Amino acid sequence: MSFESSAFDVPFQVPFVHRLRVTRDVFGPDQQILAELLEPSAAGPARIQFWLDEQIATAQPQLKSRIRKFVSDHADRVVMPGNIQVVPGGEAVKNDIHLLEMMLKCINAADLDRRSYMVVIGGGAVLDAVGFAAAIAHRGIRLIRLPTTTLSQADSGVGVKNSVNLFQKKNWVGTFAVPWAVINDAVLLSTLPDRDFRCGFSEAVKVTLLKDAEGFEEVSRLATRIRQRDMTAAAPVILRSARLHLDHITRGGDPFEALEARPLDYGHWSAHKLEVMSNFELRHGEAVGIGVAVDTVYSSLVHGFPEADAQRVLECLTNLGLPVDHPVLHDTDVLFRGLEEFRQHLGGRLTLTMLPRIGQKIDVHEIDRAKMKEAIRRVRDAHRVSVG
Ligand SMILES: NC(=O)c1ccc[n+]([C@@H]2O[C@H](COP(=O)([O-])OP(=O)(O)OC[C@H]3O[C@@H](n4cnc5c(N)ncnc54)[C@H](O)[C@@H]3O)[C@@H](O)[C@H]2O)c1
Ligand SMILES: [Zn+2]
Repeated sequence: MSFESSAFDVPFQVPFVHRLRVTRDVFGPDQQILAELLEPSAAGPARIQFWLDEQIATAQPQLKSRIRKFVSDHADRVVMPGNIQVVPGGEAVKNDIHLLEMMLKCINAADLDRRSYMVVIGGGAVLDAVGFAAAIAHRGIRLIRLPTTTLSQADSGVGVKNSVNLFQKKNWVGTFAVPWAVINDAVLLSTLPDRDFRCGFSEAVKVTLLKDAEGFEEVSRLATRIRQRDMTAAAPVILRSARLHLDHITRGGDPFEALEARPLDYGHWSAHKLEVMSNFELRHGEAVGIGVAVDTVYSSLVHGFPEADAQRVLECLTNLGLPVDHPVLHDTDVLFRGLEEFRQHLGGRLTLTMLPRIGQKIDVHEIDRAKMKEAIRRVRDAHRVSVG
């Protein structure tokens, strides 16, 4: 073999299937839906390990016994070595890197392999952290997500990302990994506190504004009923949002975010910064609502988005029971550092999504800071009017 210089650039594609299921009671009458996702291996039943968000384990005390019954009823398909695992809920699970090591130890102790299943039941934070452990153990164990918040059912559950926080930076370590399946279940959602329940709908507003004008009309029409937790109004909006996110990942041409633009992050440059600035007093969903409000009004000032529609977006968020203002929003010196942090996380040029109209987006590479301040003032004034 000679070592004359040469180059081989070979494009290739890898087929994936993204499976989303919707159930009313996945450990009750709908258990077949989960069972059918579990392929026994040629060597016999597959190994399965369940991971629970501590808050849901407390809020639904019968859940563990229902899971055990599920496993014993499907002994032909799966075996569960060891116990059901419980991890802290919320950002705490992502903030302690030692928990990751603990998860890897549990995976090792249970002898899971690439044909085993990890079923994770929890909010977006627990899905992110357990999903990361699943992605790196043996370079990838099959992950089934059962999201238990409106936000994770409408958005991150069908995503292909996982992570934990490191060096006091959000999502600093993580991977892209396509889950084996995602199941959005109504009973699991039922114990979510009201504040968290409302949070998920800012992502639904976001994704419909970007991609689906009719969907935005739907969420606007149903907003007040959603705030009152009417599930006949909330369920179709969650599903529509999940499907728009799913569509983006499977057909948008950039599931692993190699391109500069990250349209699903509309409103997020400020949202991420606001979460930190408020010391995480603002939830992700609330911060996204504020970020969407600000970027929508900014779009009306700079990119021709109709002013009346901007008003409707603010009303929709308010009717959903989401705040569109917060004291930290007005510390614009600190807030604008969020622009640079957003750029750094992605690399390359600053690229933000803005809206010329509902259902249409553009990429922009700079922000007129005076106009952005004006947008923030207008959002505050609108908020004052709406809260009286
Ligand atoms: N991977 C992605 O693509 C992606 C996208 C968006 C957000 N995220 C991440 O998701 C996280 C936020 O997720 P979230 O909004 O789902 O909130 P969360 O996971 O922080 O959950 C909110 C709270 O509700 C509790 N809880 C969850 N389900 C419950 C239930 N059914 N009953 C009772 N209590 C319940 C949790 O323990 C937690 O205390 C953040 O860390 C964010 O960075 C990830
Ligand atoms: Zn988000």
